[in-house]
Amino acid sequence: MDKGVRRAFDRARDTYREAARVQAEVAVECARLAGGGPLGRVLEIGAGCGLLTELLAPRTAGPYVALDLSLAMLGALPVPGVLRLAADGEAPPLRPGSFDFLASASAMQWFVRPEVALPTCLDLLRPGGGFVLVLFTEGTLAEPAWAARVSGFGSFWPLRPAGAYESMLAAVPGVLLQVEEREYVLHFPSAREALRSLRRSGAGFGGGRPRPGKARYRAFLSAYEERFGGERGLPLTYRAVFFRGSVGR
Ligand SMILES: C[S@@+](CC[C@H](N)C(=O)[O-])C[C@H]1O[C@@H](n2cnc3c(N)ncnc32)[C@H](O)[C@@H]1O
Repeated sequence: MDKGVRRAFDRARDTYREAARVQAEVAVECARLAGGGPLGRVLEIGAGCGLLTELLAPRTAGPYVALDLSLAMLGALPVPGVLRLAADGEAPPLRPGSFDFLASASAMQWFVRPEVALPTCLDLLRPGGGFVLVLFTEGTLAEPAWAARVSGFGSFWPLRPAGAYESMLAAVPGVLLQVEEREYVLHFPSAREALRSLRRSGAGFGGGRPRPGKARYRAFLSAYEERFGGERGLPLTYRAVFFRGSVGR
């Protein structure tokens, strides 16, 4: 867990829903992949303010635990009857084998050690339990990441290729896995607007030390606009990998 990630989402509490356009689409697709039947005891990791929770929680009669690093985000989760747990999803304080279904949308790419954390999370499922996990992958935010690099403005959170996450999950004994990748592209009128939207959705945090300064900021804006500007405006790309599966019986 990185404390900077928690701070970024704490700050985004009141702006996330309006800014998180791609994450909202991902949540809908994630709920569709979860299938139509009852889900049993559900754990959602990185529930945030509930874009996925509000789609899944009405489908379960059992307990629904919404876990998130950010207490502020959980405070904005409007779904009644859900158990909110402010904790690190990389080391969940929960008993192995105690859930029927695990869900996570747009959250686990923030894990610092996913190679350890993903198997730990699957271990919380009972034998035969199911899961749907969606993570953003390498290539997400490629345009501002490039502009940040060439301008020295800062950095964006390092994301891994879909295949790296697939290998981590496939290595869990007995796991069955279906994989699908999708790309989403938003357009903004200016680099300033794109950056503002990222901050408002909590995704502006890059992991490294911020390197403020007006000159670097202006160089970042120009680099982004000159290289990527087009008729539709400035693109901002997201790549997501969707995993649906179950753990061994
Ligand atoms: C982009 S939001 C997604 C929220 C929600 N799942 C959705 O679809 O809108 C990412 C969430 O993951 C949470 N998060 C990041 N790292 C986490 C960790 N190590 N443990 C638990 N939650 C984490 C953040 O606090 C944030 O609420």
